[in-house]
Amino acid sequence: MTLPASIQQQFATDLHLAFSSAPRSISPKYFYDEIGSALFEQICDLPEYYPTRTELALLHAHAAEMAACIGPQAQLVEYGAGALRKVRCLLDQLEEPAAFVPVDISGTHLLAACAQLQLSYPTLRIAPVVADFTQPHDLPPHPTHRANPQQGEKAAQKGRRVGFFPGSSIGNFSPPEAQAFLSMAAHELRGGGLLIGVDLIKHPAVLHAAYNDAAGVTAAFNLNLLERARRELGAEVDTAGFAHSAFYNAPLQRIEMHLLSLQRQVLRLDGHSYAFEAGETLHTENSYKYSVPGFQALAARAGFTPGQVWVDEQQWFSLHWLQAPPL
Ligand code: AVJ
Repeated sequence: MTLPASIQQQFATDLHLAFSSAPRSISPKYFYDEIGSALFEQICDLPEYYPTRTELALLHAHAAEMAACIGPQAQLVEYGAGALRKVRCLLDQLEEPAAFVPVDISGTHLLAACAQLQLSYPTLRIAPVVADFTQPHDLPPHPTHRANPQQGEKAAQKGRRVGFFPGSSIGNFSPPEAQAFLSMAAHELRGGGLLIGVDLIKHPAVLHAAYNDAAGVTAAFNLNLLERARRELGAEVDTAGFAHSAFYNAPLQRIEMHLLSLQRQVLRLDGHSYAFEAGETLHTENSYKYSVPGFQALAARAGFTPGQVWVDEQQWFSLHWLQAPPL
């Protein structure tokens, strides 16, 4: 598939920036070309990668309670919709959803996933928005229903706009960035709420295994960033000269992924040369982990009122209902 020139241009610009700064780092959003997205789907099914299956189990077990938080005739907005697997659990329980609005930067993937979803939910109104959900974006008009206080709690809950942000994608943001995103969401979702999946702090061995799987899929996912630079930008880089490195940075409560240069080597991009010494890295991803109260405090600083929380028995993953400020 050919990508819009602007996205390739942005990737090139950000790579130049990454290679010439210290420490070197680049946004994890560049993992997700076609090959990277397929590798991520594989990661989700790995035995060591607990987040996806734990969150799906929580969604399955508690979807009715979650649907009750969301209320009838809701406009459900999913941030960064991937394969749209998880939202099905909610859709199966929601009372007369008014619309499903997945927001994703990859238009082709989004439209294909919507077409698949529509087959299972023929009467559901699906209104995809192709946009970077971290940036200001437009959503379809907010449902106009206004609660009549006389009608009681159920009517007051009717027709709200509710966000869904599963997968602990919030973990890619630093805490200040996460707070900024949540503030934007609190405003966009006022009168409604947000259901968000958040990965929890746990034994570092469990975390380490999840990002260093035995089959090497996460390593391939990480290294694909350089492969993509070769494919799309004609970068001259020997990917065999780099190793996948992922570790838990306990003081900062995050998994860090890096591409670690195994020897002194020189990369070339658009006529520029960049030297990596042995042991130098390109930092490709952070994945922050939270405690339940730590995340609730962050959400509260962003203007949400933390509500119900669902956590698995091992306390590895959490789903939070956050109530947005009133309209
Ligand atoms: C999609 C950001 C939630 O941090 O666990 C998985 C991405 N990176 N394995 C995560 C990822 C390596 C994932 N998120």
